[in-house]
Amino acid sequence: MRVLVTGGTGYIGSTAVDTLLTQGFEISILDDCSTGHADSVPAGVSFTQGSLLNPVDIANALTGCEAVMHFAGKSLVGESVQKPDLYHSVNVDGTRNLLDQMHNAGIAQLVFSSSAATYGEPLETPIKENAPTKPTNPYGATKLAIDQMISAEAASRGIAAASLRYFNVAGALKSARGWLAERHNPETHLIPNVLRSTPENPVKIFGTDWPTPDGTCIRDYVHVIDLIDAHIKALHALKPGNHDIYNLGSGDGYSVKEVIAAASTAVGFEIPTTAAPRRDGDPAVLIADINKAKRALDWIPTRGIELMVADTLASLK
Ligand code: UFG
Repeated sequence: MRVLVTGGTGYIGSTAVDTLLTQGFEISILDDCSTGHADSVPAGVSFTQGSLLNPVDIANALTGCEAVMHFAGKSLVGESVQKPDLYHSVNVDGTRNLLDQMHNAGIAQLVFSSSAATYGEPLETPIKENAPTKPTNPYGATKLAIDQMISAEAASRGIAAASLRYFNVAGALKSARGWLAERHNPETHLIPNVLRSTPENPVKIFGTDWPTPDGTCIRDYVHVIDLIDAHIKALHALKPGNHDIYNLGSGDGYSVKEVIAAASTAVGFEIPTTAAPRRDGDPAVLIADINKAKRALDWIPTRGIELMVADTLASLK
């Protein structure tokens, strides 16, 4: 089966490409390389360097495909507050174009990268898929709008779809071509920032007065390899006319200070830190209830925070 991986040159998309190839899938990639890296495209993969805002690029990239894994999109909460129109255009309008081109090409299987940001500030923890969706930033609002669009597409055109709501993705994959890891610029994510911390430029802890046991935010980290495993299981479980939504995390929460402690153990010295004000839009605690994915997809994340830190560290060397 040939799968179109949109965003296949980015951190998570490139990990998907590598894993799918290992499992015998044929791959096409559509990516504008605005945040991804063309040098991550493996040999033998059909690569369209193009945009979701250009239907011709999408149509070309879809040639010969039977399914789509849709990773492409803008993904930074802070940037989305500054540039809501950009986020709406690339994420929502871009996915509308993708769905229309899939329809034109008769392709009716879709696995979409949604986000825990669709829920906003949780009323209950851990968060189930049927929790209220009240995004607190434009990024989360675009992911929710897309999830709703896909539900309508399943109902009206009968596509088979799954939205996977990621919590905090971390870790890296060692491929035959080297490490596939986070290469964001600027980097905003906690684990790479902690591992790059120096006495001259210590990692900032955004808020030490949160209503949590140690005063720092709690997040649910899931290894990128486990995350992609869930995508492939979701692809196999797709049913025509259905749109299923699954939370993907580990089901456990770690505070910022606990992540820093795990990283300090990994590097063998105490990582320098500095206290900073709370970051806008951060909820105190985000933990996934992953029972639905466990049950329906027969998926179990097996790689813990120590391995996420160790793999990220190895990828930086
Ligand atoms: N943090 C720091 N210092 C840093 C970076 C992060 O203290 O240098 C803190 C943040 O305040 C937060 C936690 O570490 O409490 C995790 O922050 P990240 O930036 O690594 O991740 P987020 O939780 O903000 O966001 C991630 C994805 C989003 C997604 C969200 C859903 O980047 O796309 O998870 O849970 F929406």
